[in-house]
Amino acid sequence: MVSLVTLLCYTLPVLLLFFFQFCRSFKKPSLPPGPRGLPIIGNLHQLNKSDLYLQLWQLSKKYGPIFSLQLGLRPAIVVSSPKLAQELWKDHDHVVSDRPKLVGQQKLSYNGLEMIFAPYGEFWREIRKICVTHVLSPSRVSGFSSIRQFEVKQMIKKISGHVSSSKPTNLNEVLMCLSSTIICRIAYGRSYEDEGTERSRFHGLLNECQAMWGTFFFSDYIPFSGWIDKLRGLHTRLERTFKEFDKFFQEVIDEHVDPNRNTPENEDIIDVLLQLKKQRSFCVDLTNDHIKAVLMDMLVAGTDATAATLVGAMTALLQNPRVMKRVQEEIRTLGGKREFLNEDEVAKFPYLRAVIKETLRLHLPAPLLVQRETNEACMIGGYEIPAKTIVYVNAWAIHRDPEAWKDPHEFIPERFLDSSIDSGGQDFELIPFGAGRRICPGRPTAIASLDLIIANLLNSFDWELPFGMDKEDIDTEVLPGLAQHKKNHLYVLAKFPI
Ligand code: HEM
Repeated sequence: MVSLVTLLCYTLPVLLLFFFQFCRSFKKPSLPPGPRGLPIIGNLHQLNKSDLYLQLWQLSKKYGPIFSLQLGLRPAIVVSSPKLAQELWKDHDHVVSDRPKLVGQQKLSYNGLEMIFAPYGEFWREIRKICVTHVLSPSRVSGFSSIRQFEVKQMIKKISGHVSSSKPTNLNEVLMCLSSTIICRIAYGRSYEDEGTERSRFHGLLNECQAMWGTFFFSDYIPFSGWIDKLRGLHTRLERTFKEFDKFFQEVIDEHVDPNRNTPENEDIIDVLLQLKKQRSFCVDLTNDHIKAVLMDMLVAGTDATAATLVGAMTALLQNPRVMKRVQEEIRTLGGKREFLNEDEVAKFPYLRAVIKETLRLHLPAPLLVQRETNEACMIGGYEIPAKTIVYVNAWAIHRDPEAWKDPHEFIPERFLDSSIDSGGQDFELIPFGAGRRICPGRPTAIASLDLIIANLLNSFDWELPFGMDKEDIDTEVLPGLAQHKKNHLYVLAKFPI
């Protein structure tokens, strides 16, 4: 008996050691590596919202193309290479198509009664189908071309006025006004021809919405910390912004249902949605709140991202006079020196196309796209990612991946001339509009506007920096928010070409 106990005493530790080794070899791989965080807040104190994509890029150099973060009590992963982006969207699209529920985004989207922030599922599928078929369809996009062309002509007139009075043009302001006017006319038929209070009210609301979408709420990451957000006045500010937007949308809906309204020349998006509401032919019974929420998507997503890309394109061209000269030569030669170029004409300029692609690569307005969330556990890059993990795809880093791009930091549109790489979600090294089933449905509208506006700005004017300013002085600091807007506005001198 004693000898059995003695034997066990000697062998048991060895057996246990083997047992644990054996179990460990079968244990599932853990979360990807990542920076060590503090209890409860995790890595929150190490991250800065305004240049998050840059910080995440730096971290990816240390921890690899997939790494994890702890945002308060919520796990997150960051994907920073085309290869992993491909794995994410090709193998796990259905798992990573959810969005995290964040306080500001939920409130301003009427709790996800629209496309951008709706949870992945039946409702999102239906509302996206409605919008893609009836609001953002190719026939609607081309049907709205007369609005885009008219508004671009107005902008050219306005800048011509600046040329005559030798006044610098604030490109941020002009391009934001233009994008918002185009979207407003398409969405609800208003044009804001004057520069009056209505326009500033609307722009104020857009800016506030952007700020609230991008604002950090503690309660998003640490439950029971909502009182801190309240103390910071965030809830009051959010409630006020929501109420103002709601009032604004109600006014435009009321205008549309007014029996005394003059029949408009073209039906706008509210007309279309109100008709669909009447028909009740969808799984979703559309209400005014759905219409308001979809309008919010169009106005904020459409205006902001397009305006930020336009400013990005002009910034890049001013910083790269060689490219500016080449694209202007193409536009003026192929365009036959016409005063105004329409959408069919600008679609035939290959170098301009390449310039827009290169702009979307280096000046993409949403460098981290829009966050996703896993709805079940899955394996990505050999790591087990639990359900309810926030997924960031760092498009900014992917667009600069040295394995995918030669001289990745240089603005060289020529790289796209003999290449089939496009931003449609199939080439994972170029993803300014995202990819997979949640890819931006506004891409055709955005590209039509970008081509038309840049072509006409470059056709009608030569551009110079104001006296005393060098191209190296153009700063690229951006404001926090879902879309990247330059902090300091871009002032330039337009001149009539000789
Ligand atoms: C240059 C202009 C634009 C850029 C770069 C852009 C970029 C993006 C990105 C990165 C996403 C997230 C995609 C993802 O999660 O994979 C997105 C979503 C979206 N965008 Fe755009 N966008 C632009 C213009 C527009 C326009 C003009 C509209 C509408 C008129 C629009 C409407 C939307 C909507 C509704 C979604 C949400 C789709 C969903 O979650 O199902 N965008 N966009």
